[in-house]
Formats: sequence, structure tokens, C-alpha cells
Amino acid sequence: MNDSMNGSKSANRRSLIKNRANRRSFIKKGLTVAGATSAAAFAKDREEDSGRLKNGDAAILRFLAAAEIIESDLWIQYNELGGVQDTEVPGGSGSKAYTDALKNLDGDMDQYIHDNTEDEISHFTFINAYLASKGADTVNLDRFRVLQGSRATGAESIGRLTNLMQLTVDTSWYTRYRSRAENPDLDPDFAFPQAIPGLATGQHPAIPRTDDDLSPQDHIQAIANTAGFHFGFIEQGGTSLYPSLAQHVSNLEVLRILLSIGPTETAHFQTWHDKAGNAVNDPLAPLTDPNDPTLVFPNLNISPGGEDFQTNLIMPEPCPFLSRKFPACSIIRPTATQGAAMGALQALTHDGLFRGQSKEFFELLRDLAEDADEAKREG
Ligand SMILES: [Fe+2]
Repeated sequence: MNDSMNGSKSANRRSLIKNRANRRSFIKKGLTVAGATSAAAFAKDREEDSGRLKNGDAAILRFLAAAEIIESDLWIQYNELGGVQDTEVPGGSGSKAYTDALKNLDGDMDQYIHDNTEDEISHFTFINAYLASKGADTVNLDRFRVLQGSRATGAESIGRLTNLMQLTVDTSWYTRYRSRAENPDLDPDFAFPQAIPGLATGQHPAIPRTDDDLSPQDHIQAIANTAGFHFGFIEQGGTSLYPSLAQHVSNLEVLRILLSIGPTETAHFQTWHDKAGNAVNDPLAPLTDPNDPTLVFPNLNISPGGEDFQTNLIMPEPCPFLSRKFPACSIIRPTATQGAAMGALQALTHDGLFRGQSKEFFELLRDLAEDADEAKREG
């Protein structure tokens, strides 16, 4: 890098910091202050309060709390319509046609959706409680619960953080975990093929928007199949995010939190990876959404077929790791550390989850992600 590039980079950096300080004074109200008097907390006009945690550790935990709140919001919407509504995960009364379509992927889909939802709620609740116990600011996104959710019978009529009705689902996670030759950390420009190309473009509902979406049968099945691949997309994101951020944690107990929550995301991912392969059981006839002929779910064992698509290859194939001088290794990927939080935020944004959200919402999330990515491991 030459000097002039260096110079402009540090100028950019200064303006980034200045802009962020401005944003912070604006977004402060979006964060719930815990463990400190509000007067003391607001006296610090720039940084969130880290309490007794190192700034980097608090920033990582706050970004994860935000991510878990977002996950909880979307999983709650799935549970209201397609899960099990009970005292553990209250809300909604189910949509029989949607629940039945999901059960074509696995007879226990409703229970798995319920359990994934409960897990995410427990994650953000725990992380916020831990932050508060250390006198650090916690995360509260309630004022962004403004999006219209499903109007189908069975859904609650409440504002949402996330939009599950206009998704563009990146299904390349499916082939990324089957590839024996490429690893996104070593091959950042390699385009892993999409399992369902029709989901990777356009905008697709993963829940019925109204009762009009409950028929014809192939249409509600296409919506359930979209959900099936979206479940895998969401949980593989968490599967990479925790080990990536863990590498920048300083405190051993905070590291323990990341190392203990992260693998439950992987347990979710492994389950959804298995179920996505059941999106079409018919060996001969692909499922096409009658309302959107570009959305086709083929039997992946036949079309395209081969090891990159074989549906029962649900365990991570060995791939190059760290360097190609080492033997291939079965691993979570990616786990590179640079920009991991911002990468996760961008993936969720491209997914369409935040369609309709406010500028303030994106600014707050970017701010939390930037802080998390700036965390440095300290001895
Ligand atoms: Fe989670």
C-alpha cells in the first residue's frame, strides 16, 4: 500500500469515527441502559457503557444480543403459524395447511420450529442478563417492531422486526458444506452453486401472507419449502458467527458463553440441513410454485445430482482449512475473523429480512456490528 492510499484510508477512518459518534448520540435511546443510573450512562455521549467488561467483549455480546433478538423475531413468526404454540413459546394459533406442508419435510417440523424459537429467545435473554450483571448496556430493539406481519389465520396481529414475506434466500450454504475443494475463507471469490437458484433471486414468502396463500397445495408447499431452506440459511449464519467472533474475545467467561451458545446454532443448522433435503420427496416430479413458475424445487439427488447436491450428505465434507498444505478437514466454514459481524449483518440484509425497516434501524445495527468487528483480543 502506498502512502497516499494510507493517508486517504486514515482520513476515511476519522470521518467514520466522527459519523459514528453522531449516530451514537442519536441511537442512544434505542438501547436500554442497565446496571447504571441513566444520568451516568447518558453522560457518556459516545460509547455504550461496558460496565466491568472490556469494551470489545461488551461490543461482541451486544452484537450477538441484537442478532439473537432478530432471530427470535423471525422464529416467533414461524412458530405462530407452523410450530407448536404453548406456554414455552406462546403466540399464534397455527395454520393447519402451512403446518401440514412443513410436515412433508419431517413429521416433527412443528416441534423443531418450537424448540429453535425457544432457544433463540433464551440466547438473547441470557446475553442481555449477562451484560446487565456486569453493569454493561444491553440491547433492546422494541422500537423497531413496526413491520406488518402475516395476516393469515393463526398469526398474531403485532408489529415485527423482520419480514418473512419477501425473502431472497441464498442457498449456497448447501453446496458450501459439500465442497471438498473450496473453503470460503481460502477462496473468497468462489461462487458456491445455489441449491435452489429460484430462491436466490426475486422475492419469496416463507410464511403464508394471507389465507389466500394456503392453496393451491403446490403453492403452500413451495412456501413451506422456502421456509425449509431459509431455516438452514439462518442457522448456518449463527454457526459461523460465534466461532468467528470468539477469536476476538478477551475474557475467559465471555469466551465460554460464545463457545457454549455457538454450537447450539450448529445443532439447529444440522437439523435444518437434513430437512431441506426432503423439500421434494417425489423422485421424478419437481415442485413448481403455480403462482411463480421461476421457483422450482427439484429432487436434488437427480437434478443436478452428484455429491454437491446429494441430500443425505448432511455432515460437513472435509475441505481445505487454514492452508492447502494441510490435509482436508471437516469444519465449520467460514470462520475468518475480519468483518464477521458486518458480514452477518449484510447477509441478513441481502436475505430481505429487513425489507421495510427504517434508516435508524440499519444505522443502529451497523453501529453494533462495527463495534463488534473492532474488538481485539487482549491478554
Ligand atoms: Fe441463537
